Amino acid sequence: MPATSERKRYVVAGTGGRALYMFVKPLLNGFPQYCELVGLFDHNPLRMKATTDHIGVALPSYTDFDRMLAETKPDAVVVATKDATHAEFIIRALAAGKRVIAEKPVATDAKQLSEIMRAAERYKSIGASCLVTHNMRYGNSITAMKRLLDEGAIGTIKSVNFHENLNRSHGADYFRRWHRRKENSGGLLIHKASHHFDALNWLIGSIPMELAAQGGLMMYGAAGPFRNDRCLGCPHASKCDFYVDFWKNDLTRQMYKDAEASDGYVRDGCVFDLSIDIEDQASVFYTYANGVQVTYSLTAFATYEGWHIQFEGTKGRLELKEMQATPFASGESMAHGLSTVLGESLLHFDAKTGQVRTIPIASGEGTHGGADEALHQDFFNRPFDAPLTNRMAPLDQAVQAVLIGHAANVSMANGSKKVRVQELLTGAAKA
Ligand SMILES: NC(=O)c1ccc[n+]([C@@H]2O[C@H](COP(=O)([O-])OP(=O)(O)OC[C@H]3O[C@@H](n4cnc5c(N)ncnc54)[C@H](O)[C@@H]3O)[C@@H](O)[C@H]2O)c1
Repeated sequence: MPATSERKRYVVAGTGGRALYMFVKPLLNGFPQYCELVGLFDHNPLRMKATTDHIGVALPSYTDFDRMLAETKPDAVVVATKDATHAEFIIRALAAGKRVIAEKPVATDAKQLSEIMRAAERYKSIGASCLVTHNMRYGNSITAMKRLLDEGAIGTIKSVNFHENLNRSHGADYFRRWHRRKENSGGLLIHKASHHFDALNWLIGSIPMELAAQGGLMMYGAAGPFRNDRCLGCPHASKCDFYVDFWKNDLTRQMYKDAEASDGYVRDGCVFDLSIDIEDQASVFYTYANGVQVTYSLTAFATYEGWHIQFEGTKGRLELKEMQATPFASGESMAHGLSTVLGESLLHFDAKTGQVRTIPIASGEGTHGGADEALHQDFFNRPFDAPLTNRMAPLDQAVQAVLIGHAANVSMANGSKKVRVQELLTGAAKA
């Protein structure tokens, strides 16, 4: 296809499961007027080859990030590597004056956040910028809540209760993969809850100030009754509730099992491994600058998956309940977020009249209930210089989402001590 002035060059860093479905395939064919995929980068050449074999296009593939930038001359760099490595690639792309589109979480601690912010400021004069793909903003239920809150349906928001339940399939999977070590993911209060904290920041329209947290490892890791290094060949398979045969899915096998020879990464690690240091149960209590108080909890061994979110305001309440089933972690599918909604309701309670209204939620086709496809429209199906929409998370907002999880980690490491959230960022900037 001939290049047009509107068509910009994209590269993708990290060619794992998320990148394949969220960025590589869509950028290859989905938005030809605006996007051209010109290269891939990953430190594991075998996984990258499995990705290019799967898409059937021999894209230029690199294990050297700077060489990829130099040779492919992209306009934009998508960063979808392991969480703790985002900062490194974001900063290198910013220094080259690129637009960065990073997966959440933008980073995994305050030091990385501050370094990314410094680079974004330093290189903005050469065209550098950073956006983060906070896809939860694009979900139909959250979109409906945002509209109602902005319309003043419950008056002034006073408090929020947010309960995240990850079931024993999806939730357990974080304890098999790289996510299970804080040095890789920051723990689930960063890796997972950055979705929820970003959505709360966005819905509430303020920034977090004071926070305390508690958490523990109650089901996985050392809490387990027996262990092996991985599911494959495990002698406990017949009696283990968490045993999974991932390798029956051809693509999963090619991308992970067959790529082990390069980096030794084991995709089906034992959920009872003694090196696991992330929490599977945590509670966070925090206050926003505008006074709103939040109680947040995350359980990664829930009997059913879903959210329960409750906004209480001066004029009423908004309450969302969602129950989901997800095949991703049981080895049936490689695509993230292909969950089936088993039941959902969004209710509006009017405090004065006592009336209860059921708010219709649009049904969405695609991954994460259609949120990923909606996000593509904003990020990739418009001119490069089009103004940002309200749902595209700029760097400063993505930073606040991670900062809450980071503050929770600091609080938990200090006996649930109360933490001044913003001081963690200013402290890291001075260090
Ligand atoms: N927004 C969402 O809904 C959503 C869903 C899933 C994953 N994600 C995010 O997407 C990213 C990728 O997750 P995934 O599930 O695809 O994981 P994955 O393990 O399948 O892929 C990660 C890729 O990063 C590569 N990588 C790791 N360290 C590297 C390094 N130092 N240099 C170069 N490459 C490196 C790995 O080889 C792998 O190919 C993560 O940041 C994750 O948080 C977001």
